[in-house]
Amino acid sequence: MCGIVGFTSLDTPAVGPLVNGLRRLEYRGYDSAGVALESADGIRVFKQTGRVAELDKLLAKELPNDERGKYTIGIAHTRWATHGLPTQANAHPHTADGGRLAIVHNGIIENYASLRAGLEKRGVKFASQTDTEVLAHLIAIFDKGDFLSAASEALKRVEGTYGMAAISARHPGEMIVARKGSPLVIGVGEKDIVVASDVSAIVAYTRQVIYLKDGDIACITPEGVEIHSLDNAPVTREVQEVDWDIGAIEKGGYEHFMLKEIYEQPEALANTIRGRLDPSGATAFLSGLSLTPRELAAVRRVVIVGCGTSLHAGMVGKYLFEKLADLPTSPEQAAEFRYSNPIVGPDDWVIAMSQSGETADTLAAVRESIRKGALVSGLCNVVGSTIAREAGRGVYLHAGPEISVASTKAFTAQVTALLMTALKLGRTRRLSFEDGARLVGEIEKIPDVVREILAGNDAIAKVAEKYASAGDMFFIGRGILYPAALEGALKIKEVAYVHAEGYQAAELKHGPIALLSEKTPVVALLADIPGKEKTLGNVQECRARNAPVIGIATKGDDVAAAAVTDALAIPKTSPEIAPIASVVALQLFAYHVARLRGCEIDQPRNLAKSVTVE
Ligand code: F6R
Repeated sequence: MCGIVGFTSLDTPAVGPLVNGLRRLEYRGYDSAGVALESADGIRVFKQTGRVAELDKLLAKELPNDERGKYTIGIAHTRWATHGLPTQANAHPHTADGGRLAIVHNGIIENYASLRAGLEKRGVKFASQTDTEVLAHLIAIFDKGDFLSAASEALKRVEGTYGMAAISARHPGEMIVARKGSPLVIGVGEKDIVVASDVSAIVAYTRQVIYLKDGDIACITPEGVEIHSLDNAPVTREVQEVDWDIGAIEKGGYEHFMLKEIYEQPEALANTIRGRLDPSGATAFLSGLSLTPRELAAVRRVVIVGCGTSLHAGMVGKYLFEKLADLPTSPEQAAEFRYSNPIVGPDDWVIAMSQSGETADTLAAVRESIRKGALVSGLCNVVGSTIAREAGRGVYLHAGPEISVASTKAFTAQVTALLMTALKLGRTRRLSFEDGARLVGEIEKIPDVVREILAGNDAIAKVAEKYASAGDMFFIGRGILYPAALEGALKIKEVAYVHAEGYQAAELKHGPIALLSEKTPVVALLADIPGKEKTLGNVQECRARNAPVIGIATKGDDVAAAAVTDALAIPKTSPEIAPIASVVALQLFAYHVARLRGCEIDQPRNLAKSVTVE
């Protein structure tokens, strides 16, 4: 949520790398953008409402190429508004000290109102409604000649979260960066240092990175990085190598990242599975869990926490853990869980699901569970992310970077990882060798199942064309396919702006059926799982109210095909794999509806990818 970039170099102009970095981070927020550049003459700030492209146009007009060379240090920001409307005044960078200090910030300063009131009493005039500007003025006030100490003193007075970068004309060539609760990574190149909210803005320059930890503050110059705690004690953080390159975050010929990521799924899922199946023991190896069979056998309950798509994957997990490992499992929306004074303890295994590994609500749920003595694991995609680190143990998805704001490959990778976890847990309990071996075989087939669905893209696009103008849709499924229905509804809401609701198939008749008419298509999940016949009955109820029904059904299932208005075929799978297969078809359906409606698919309105505010 909000993207930060900082750049400093011995000789490279900063403006190009800063704007390129913002483009990479635009998925984190895109309502306004800005840069601050420092030269011997002081600091210049350029900011604009709208996308990074608008900022680029402004720079083309106001900063001629022959002037750019003198600015080799700068900071930049792309915003997702929290405090104050997305106006130019509220766009970052914010300044203080008569324009001599500029700052960009990601996160929320919770005590900003009292800090602002105190500053206003001292005569400070504010130019914006943001919480960030408070921090800029505080640093300026504490600046008695040492930039790092000034920023440390200011940050000690701040409650809330921050990833921030600041430059000051009083300290030429120095950039101060710090983090608490919002990610910040420093890329260390040979001649350049790049700072960003995530590595995607860094890999074009270097793959050598330092992940700052909460409470770290660093002073960066082109010569190097010095990291301290806020109490000024030196801190050492290792330089790590990013294990993917720039190709992974380019569109690679696809019109949108969403489509690219949908198509990447066979390979992404093969990576999630690789090296983790043990046919000889009919189980899975998940070394990152660092749990002995004895510890796993002692678990009495599983709680899966997450938000949005990750929560839906966790809901599939409930069916998997209960069926394969006989363990009561509760999927919980992370914010509701963390504020409910949850009853968890040493017998409970809390699994935190998060693609980004930075979602504030999920992170808070992890911290609350650790406090209460539960066994906690992360199931994250982004390596080195806060949730992965704080959970201390877990399973990485290895699905590769997900850039599209709407999550696709992370969902299928999460369900695959949960399935392997349930298999491992089940085999420490009552799941037989034969059933374990059957599942190993099913998991191995997942990439091919997805490949086959992708090959049916044209048929899905054709059906999408027929329904693209609908204003409302319902998605229904039962059992393990209910969370898949929720995920299908979420995808079409966020990328195509179609009002959609996901329901348990049996629940529709308890009220929502009143809304059905020939104008409300119902998408019914009809893959082969126990209870499919009942869902077919629900389909009849919908059709009897004139609602057209789009069925996602097993290839060759003539009964299902005859029951619906339009059938989309998916390969025959075991029930455990059915949510993955169904959701891939729903992802393509949502994508095509969005494309036909002319939506901004990769960056839907009002959203941001990494939700680091509560
Ligand atoms: C939906 C979507 C969001 C995220 C949610 C959690 O397409 O992307 O609902 O799933 O914000 O994000 P992570 O998984 O990063 O914790």
